[in-house]
Amino acid sequence: MNSVCKVKNFSLSFVQDKKEYAAVRDVNMEIAPGEIVALIGESGCGKSVTALSMIGLQPENARVSGSIRFGDEELLTLNDREWSFYRGDRISMIFQEPMTALNPLIKVGKQIQENVLLHQKVTGEAAVKQVLEVLKQVGLPDVERIYQSYPHQLSGGQRQRIMIAMAFVNNPDLLIADEPTTALDVTIQAQIMDLMKKMNRERQTAVLLISHDLGVIRDLCSRVYIMYAGRVVESGPVEYVLKEPVHPYTRGLAAAIPSAGRRGRELESIPGTVEPLQRRSKKGCPFAGRCFGAQSLCHEETPHSYSYRGRDVYCHLSPAEIEKRSAERKADHE
Ligand SMILES: Nc1ncnc2c1ncn2[C@@H]1O[C@H](COP(=O)(O)OP(=O)(O)O)[C@@H](O)[C@H]1O
Ligand code: SF4
Ligand SMILES: [Mg+2]
Repeated sequence: MNSVCKVKNFSLSFVQDKKEYAAVRDVNMEIAPGEIVALIGESGCGKSVTALSMIGLQPENARVSGSIRFGDEELLTLNDREWSFYRGDRISMIFQEPMTALNPLIKVGKQIQENVLLHQKVTGEAAVKQVLEVLKQVGLPDVERIYQSYPHQLSGGQRQRIMIAMAFVNNPDLLIADEPTTALDVTIQAQIMDLMKKMNRERQTAVLLISHDLGVIRDLCSRVYIMYAGRVVESGPVEYVLKEPVHPYTRGLAAAIPSAGRRGRELESIPGTVEPLQRRSKKGCPFAGRCFGAQSLCHEETPHSYSYRGRDVYCHLSPAEIEKRSAERKADHE
């Protein structure tokens, strides 16, 4: 695949009280130019820390290994000065809560203009023009007034549009959107997702979308990565993985996705919750404690990925064995 970003054997652990805890393990992921790819999984599975590592914003106590390539560049070894060239220019990020990324003391138009001036060789006047143009493109009304507004003078939906304007203004090759609409009401969520789709189409920006909304993912994304306890457990084209999930975790997730984002909540179809890092076993399959298919091998040995009908599955069992166990479990419950 011709990729804009390629994550290879990426692992991340946190150092706490001189101990190291693995949050992400051996993740492989690829995004093609102009493609929208989804990353899903319950809270605590390592989606955000993976995404943050792709823009060099992983927490201070994180240790990373493996590789994240962006074109010919290795991102994991960039220093702060080198990051200032990529971040906000070739790679941008939209967060769940725009207030964390906006400066409350500076007018929003000025903040976007500063981002333009930092990365493009244009005059202040030309930058203002670009900002007004991008504010129109993200569907904001009365853009001159919006330009002069402070973040607190805008609604949550408007602030998220500002974030999108800021993220797209320098025409990045890659946009990372980490649950960009979770804090908004349903109607606004749909508008923001339509906007992301429009910006992706018009500017051919590749997008990594972290979301719990299967409807949105089916509508927007070509491929999906399913993450559980730091591992990618299934990946492939959306129409295969979400329509006919193979991995036991994907099966449960697909059946219960509306509540999947709530931290600590049990999914209806999967008993238990994601273990905190400190309690995760180092050996065996990370899903063994909750899996209907688990057998003694699953608690002892780490599975390998295999390919099956256009997707990669990380499990000790074959698709036929998983199906058999799933059918047996259903029969037991009836
Ligand atoms: N700075 C940190 N120090 C220690 N553990 C952390 C830190 N940041 C996140 N974690 C832990 O790493 C795991 C993955 O977190 P995160 O990537 O935020 O998950 P997700 O986005 O999938 O909900 C979680 O168990 C979380 O508690
Ligand atoms: S390896 Fe075992 S525990 Fe893990 S998903 Fe497969 S069947 Fe379940
Ligand atoms: Mg997260």
